Amino acid sequence: MPVEEATISVMDRGFLFGDGIYEVVPVFGNKLLRAKGHLDRLKNSLSRISLQNPCSDEEWMQIFIGLLERNAGDDRAIYLQISRGAYAKRDLAIKTEYPPTIFAMVLHVTPPDIEVVSAGISVITVDDFRWHACDIKSTSLVANVMLKQQATAAGVDDAILIRNGMLSEGTASNVFVVKDGVLSTPPTGHELLPGITRDLVIEIAKNNAILVEQRDIKAAELLDADEIWMTSSTREIAPVIQLNGEVVGSGKAGDMWKRVVDMYQEHKRLLRVGKVI
Ligand SMILES: Cc1ncc(COP(=O)(O)O)c(C=O)c1O
Repeated sequence: MPVEEATISVMDRGFLFGDGIYEVVPVFGNKLLRAKGHLDRLKNSLSRISLQNPCSDEEWMQIFIGLLERNAGDDRAIYLQISRGAYAKRDLAIKTEYPPTIFAMVLHVTPPDIEVVSAGISVITVDDFRWHACDIKSTSLVANVMLKQQATAAGVDDAILIRNGMLSEGTASNVFVVKDGVLSTPPTGHELLPGITRDLVIEIAKNNAILVEQRDIKAAELLDADEIWMTSSTREIAPVIQLNGEVVGSGKAGDMWKRVVDMYQEHKRLLRVGKVI
């Protein structure tokens, strides 16, 4: 149905408590990028919040394909949200007799223009005051909204989050650091979302003989980095050229970024023609 006609109850726990999870799956020329990765992460998010998966992987795929057929286009993304449903009373306690609310839509997205992206972004570091369950792709995003607002108020594009002196991630992305030809990113765990783009970047880099480390990264290492990138499904791989007002590396998108971004674009091209997943 048209999005304006879709409604949910005001008692929906997604609305009242942010009690739900979501996924965003990029689609290039009718092909879903890393569908399995997204469905696995969906399962993890659901299990972490003790919400039963309402569909099998095959059923989700049928829903996605049906939606794409009814919402034609080239580059798109599927947005899927599952909340714990609408209970009769506002009560934190979980009751399993209520069905979840499932909402999915097709987003018409324009993939980032490489020329524009290569100009780079400016960021600040901010204190990551979020909870210790950031691996859940939760719809409770008010902390991320507040952190992003700190960046906006500072007149920069985004914020890199630091917890106890260590890098965690961006407000809606993962972070990579390049130093002396080695690509590093913090390990997965409860402090960050295991990004599907992060996985793909690691895979592509390793397949092309780039040394990749998943390790704890001190905030101080950011100042000393040759390159910093922020990755996500919608942003892809964005080079950071300014951090807290200081120039990062050469002050331009770096050589390693150019290499990996080309490989990422090639992966998308192969996906469109059904040669990769
Ligand atoms: C907090 C956070 N970290 C990382 C990511 C990147 O995840 P993905 O690459 O799957 O888009 C996102 C994406 O929205 C995010 O919100």
